[in-house]
Amino acid sequence: MDALLKQFERLHRPIDLVQTLHESQVKEVPARYILPSDQRSVPAIEAPQSIPVIDLAAHHSEIVTQVAKASQDWGFFQVINHGIDLSLLERIKRVSKEFFDLPLEEKRKQCPVRPGTRMLEGYGRFFDISDDTVLDWVDALVHYVYPPSVMAVEHWPKTPHTYRETYEKYGEEVLKLADKLLGLLSEGLGLGSDYVQTLIKEPLLQLRINYYPPCPQPDLVHGVKPHSDGSVITVLLDDQVEGLQVRKGGKWLSVSPVPGSLVVNIGDLLQIISNGKYISAEHKAVVNTNQYRMSVVLFLLAEDGVLIAPAPELIDESHPRLYQSTISEEYVTNYMSKINEGKANVEALIIEQH
Ligand code: OGA
Ligand code: NI
Repeated sequence: MDALLKQFERLHRPIDLVQTLHESQVKEVPARYILPSDQRSVPAIEAPQSIPVIDLAAHHSEIVTQVAKASQDWGFFQVINHGIDLSLLERIKRVSKEFFDLPLEEKRKQCPVRPGTRMLEGYGRFFDISDDTVLDWVDALVHYVYPPSVMAVEHWPKTPHTYRETYEKYGEEVLKLADKLLGLLSEGLGLGSDYVQTLIKEPLLQLRINYYPPCPQPDLVHGVKPHSDGSVITVLLDDQVEGLQVRKGGKWLSVSPVPGSLVVNIGDLLQIISNGKYISAEHKAVVNTNQYRMSVVLFLLAEDGVLIAPAPELIDESHPRLYQSTISEEYVTNYMSKINEGKANVEALIIEQH
């Protein structure tokens, strides 16, 4: 809790939200957002390589193979025929945009930043809290959408008035999809289809809506810095504007939006459970000069107190145990305090092999 309060106090120092910078028509990015030249993005590679698109309506054994392969090679895939109504996805985008379009003070009033469950929640900025980190060109809204006991609906947006029912519905739907995906991912490891779900117990779904206004000098900034997610898996919905990039074989590849699809990625906790077979890939977001971009990201987390460790079935002489165990909520708290260090958290758990 101390660490959370410290983060919270830091946030009280005035830092402009990027939407304000955009609206005041700055011609140059303020110094606090400018990356040292060696960290700036080089243009990402387009085709021929692109993250796999998996049709969840295909034959079961085929999907298991595809999901497992994508999780090993990329740590990312996109799903179509995922079972979530496309009209619900449209409503989610609409209510989210309507909230971000409200005046700044209104958004702050409805969703104040405050210490929440495992992390800061509310509307503002979260990832960059120390004075010497370069700020990301993004504003965000963070809260849980499952289970009801941690949702704090009193701090959810009240405008538009359909926000709550839309996100409650979306939370339920993504939970169903996540159940299905965890089954496929477990089977892909050669484990029983309920292995991961049984291990993580009652999951939590944490929402982060990223809002990236146009930026006058996009080559000088990050939208979101390179990082891997501290989740079990993550489900991302974007508004079809390009910006997400995934690192594969040392190169950054941009994800081309597929209409009606959702992007799924493996998080650090599943990399640990799978003993490194599935990868929690580094990824980042870039911004552009003329378009807003929004992504609606749901992080699936494990219940408090769950011991996250490599599945014993995946360890043998030729596959030594790669990671130390960690407690679910401790991993997430640590993760939030070191988010600017990229993959540092999961890497700190690697067991030296002799
Ligand atoms: C994140 C993230 C990428 C995006 O919020 O963890 O990786 O495309 N976002 O917004
Ligand atoms: Ni991420």
